[in-house]
Amino acid sequence: MSDAIKVGFVPLPSAARGILVVFCDDGLKLGPATAKALGGAGELVKRAASAAGFKGKSGAALDILAPEGVKATRLIVIGAGKAESLKANDCLKFGGVAAGKLSASASAMTILAELPNGPMTSEQAVGIASGLRLRAYKFDRYKTKKKEGEEAGLRAEISLAVGDVAAAKKAFAAASAVVDGVIIARDLVNEPPNVLFPEEFAHRAGQLRKLGVKVEVLDVKAMDKLGMGALLGVGQGSSRPSRTVIMRWDGGKKGDAPVAFVGKGVCFDTGGISIKPAGSMEDMKGDMGGAACVVGLMHALAARKAKANVVGAIGLVENMPDGNAQRPGDIVTSMSGQTIEIINTDAEGRLVLADVLWYVAKKTKPKFMVDLATLTGAIMVALGTEHAGMFSNNDELAERLLAAGIESGEKVWRMPLGPEYDKLIDSQFADMKNTGGRHGGSITAAQFLQRFVDGTPWAHLDIAGTAMGAPKTDINQSWGSGYGVRLLDRLVADHYERK
Ligand code: BES
Ligand code: MN
Ligand code: ZN
Repeated sequence: MSDAIKVGFVPLPSAARGILVVFCDDGLKLGPATAKALGGAGELVKRAASAAGFKGKSGAALDILAPEGVKATRLIVIGAGKAESLKANDCLKFGGVAAGKLSASASAMTILAELPNGPMTSEQAVGIASGLRLRAYKFDRYKTKKKEGEEAGLRAEISLAVGDVAAAKKAFAAASAVVDGVIIARDLVNEPPNVLFPEEFAHRAGQLRKLGVKVEVLDVKAMDKLGMGALLGVGQGSSRPSRTVIMRWDGGKKGDAPVAFVGKGVCFDTGGISIKPAGSMEDMKGDMGGAACVVGLMHALAARKAKANVVGAIGLVENMPDGNAQRPGDIVTSMSGQTIEIINTDAEGRLVLADVLWYVAKKTKPKFMVDLATLTGAIMVALGTEHAGMFSNNDELAERLLAAGIESGEKVWRMPLGPEYDKLIDSQFADMKNTGGRHGGSITAAQFLQRFVDGTPWAHLDIAGTAMGAPKTDINQSWGSGYGVRLLDRLVADHYERK
């Protein structure tokens, strides 16, 4: 991880250092402090804008040499579009655009957080700061040589000039907790699978103890005792023993039922005996993206001291082919007592989640459970990389997730469930089978999970398309995206925190 962006807050108006970044609306109008900072150069900037075809569209940037009289090296004007209808998410993007302009040789920047009608709100200004950090993240832990001209090794110092420094600093502390959570999730997804196997993953989750999170690790013996035969069957072909980790953050009212988040943590998915083709198999190091999100989310909530009781639970396994691996045709008994016929050992994520969902439902009696899993290739066929697939047995929870998705920019799209799909996973030999045939693969996977939630309000997010390998954006240049941390932090903040 290289996250060497330092953001300091200073009052508007401010003397510029390094690159000066300012904002205009889609009429090229500037704020008063900004106009003052540009002094007599305002006209010249207008001419540069017109020459470059820059119209102040949201997120567009005009990048020019600082005009005479402006104390800066470069001047970057970022379009805020219709400035009066700015969303928090737009500011994140602006921060990302600004960070994209930094380089090893241009690493000092002053940003005037002002819109045409005056200083940005603290929330907006802090959005910029978060966007800067998210964009600057780079996973280069294993690069021993840095190429010239790469955004690598950035050590940038940013002054963010705001209307109210104290308020911005306070808001930044909470926002930074969330950014740190995203970065933790990205790091976990990006780590190679020889380094990050179930025990090591559990160890990293254990770091949350420093923030006051209770972390309990179930080893193979403990899971065996609980009867978690579905999860253990997946891990039995690996020389790396499986783990389940239960995390608790009790920031809410004592005795209040928690909200629960459950993650698929397949540290590497070869497919097992139903082995995957070689092409891109290395991507299956990211098959723990759901678990990574849950750890990042627990970090975010604990670090910002969220006033909610939250459970995070992750099932950690490695799916390997081996003399001891499970076979197609095997029948395993899950913790719920329901039996499962294994048709395809590559449909392993649902087996892991089956036992963890059941465990969480029974042991913690949560208000709801949201699981995240890189569960099916089929969800990428359906939705691409822009939305995660959402399946839910509860309309209120589904609507809240949809809204949190729009607010955070980590979007979800609701998919159907129903008895006609459910019967596709009935088995002739056991209570169910672990695949449902060629059609509707993401839906039959979700139907499988639903059989293990025991009526608890629940939503399943299939993040196969969003957790890793999605196209780079203004706020993410990394393979592992950390998808879901900001979405679920929003969900908790909007609906489940004691005021
Ligand atoms: N981890 C994969 C799903 C996946 C594929 C995630 C590509 C990210 C990118 C999952 O375990 C899997 O193999 N699913 C199978 C299910 C099938 C055997 C029913 C799939 O999607 O092909
Ligand atoms: Mn698989
Ligand atoms: Zn998998």
